[in-house]
Amino acid sequence: MKTCTPIYGVDDCRLITLDKHHHPNGNLSVVEGNADVPFDIRRVYYIYDVPGGEDRGGHAHKNLSQLIVSVSGSFDVTLDDGKERRKIVLNRPYMGLLVRPGIWRELNNFSSGAVTLVLASELFDEEDYIRNYADFKDFRKKGGGG
Ligand code: TYD
Repeated sequence: MKTCTPIYGVDDCRLITLDKHHHPNGNLSVVEGNADVPFDIRRVYYIYDVPGGEDRGGHAHKNLSQLIVSVSGSFDVTLDDGKERRKIVLNRPYMGLLVRPGIWRELNNFSSGAVTLVLASELFDEEDYIRNYADFKDFRKKGGGG
């Protein structure tokens, strides 16, 4: 039986403070699937060497949840549920932003040397992307992918 994806808003996307193990030789943070994040982690990717002034993201996912972490440097994430927009600055390696399905996201204002770590609930599937903002608005108007 197909399970329906709930319709999430920007209020369902939140900052998660990760465990931070202090050590004189360096710190360590941990993310465990279904514990620190409310999903199984099925894929990890990272974005780096973003040229100054460039943007990433600019899409929504129909079913995928993810945690976005700035493991180095900083950048801004703008979340949009079709009604409300919210900008979050990510600049701490022990803070993760949980982004739920059906939320348009844009990443910009990358600092030099910024590294974006993404932990995702699904394997890569281009069919899960909505890459056009008008299509996204339409998707939200129709009540999401459920
Ligand atoms: P995309 O998700 O559009 O990047 P961003 O949202 O960070 O701007 O992905 C960029 C390209 O990389 C696109 O051609 C798809 C490819 N890609 C994969 O092949 N596998 C992956 O897991 C991801 C995230 C992207």
